[in-house]
Amino acid sequence: MVYEHILYDMQEGIATITMNRPKALNALNSALLKELSIALDSISSDESIRVLIITGSGEKSFVAGADISELTTFNPLQARQFALDGQDLFFKLEHLSIPVIAAVNGFALGGGTEIALACDFIYASENAKFGLPEITLGLIPGFGGTQRLSRLIGKQMAKELIFTGKMINANEAKEIGIVNKISSKESLMTDVLETAKALANKGKCSIQAAKRVINSGIHVDLKTGCQIEADAFGLCFASEDAKEGTSAFLEKRKAQFKGNLK
Ligand code: CAA
Repeated sequence: MVYEHILYDMQEGIATITMNRPKALNALNSALLKELSIALDSISSDESIRVLIITGSGEKSFVAGADISELTTFNPLQARQFALDGQDLFFKLEHLSIPVIAAVNGFALGGGTEIALACDFIYASENAKFGLPEITLGLIPGFGGTQRLSRLIGKQMAKELIFTGKMINANEAKEIGIVNKISSKESLMTDVLETAKALANKGKCSIQAAKRVINSGIHVDLKTGCQIEADAFGLCFASEDAKEGTSAFLEKRKAQFKGNLK
């Protein structure tokens, strides 16, 4: 598949999708979102891919939000559909079976913060800026930002960010629990790749199980969440990864996970 608005790369089991509309600071238009959806489908069906990295081209911007020039062409029904389509896509990203790391290299505004929040965790460069500035456009976030941000940092902190539309820097974002790690601009991708490689070498079944359990357990009561965990814990015992991981420990050697789903 030849992409126009994203770059796609895959090396040693680590796929990277780079939003690539530098003239518009990588803003998300319908064409880019469609390509992203196709790329995620092809990643889903490729068992050799162990980790996905999402980033933006250039050093200035990760994603500056939905494309505002396209937004101005929408009537209310088209705008609603645009939001629903974006939400479906971000659900697809959030529930991809492999770990997804957002490498935020500059502005992550509106849909940019929202796509990062749909990733499993966020590494940011020291010049990264986060925010949901839709209010300053007379709008509200439409790609899940009101929901994911309040679940992540609590509704009061989320309300302040969303009502004011203010930008926060990488340090502030780390303090309130949006960002996992801050790197210099130069070392961001090296740090992300280091973590991606570490994840790629873990057991595929157990990483998938942990992701599924955390994603579904967060929306239910503690007892139900723990039952989901116990079921998945039991299922891990059917995998070669579990046999290899436990035997390697007892034999005092490093586990060699094969990464297949048998
Ligand atoms: N949509 C379309 N074009 C955008 C864009 C966006 N979200 N953000 C930036 N651009 C374009 C600018 O129009 C400009 O294009 P031209 O060179 O053709 O004029 C180019 O990118 C560079 O931008 P600036 O000149 O504005 O760069 P700056 O350094 O002065 O400012 C910025 C950078 C603070 C990110 C500023 O561009 C900005 O505020 N962008 C808009 C951010 C925003 O409001 N995002 C939310 C969008 S709505 C949304 O996301 C809804 C949703 O939840 C689904």
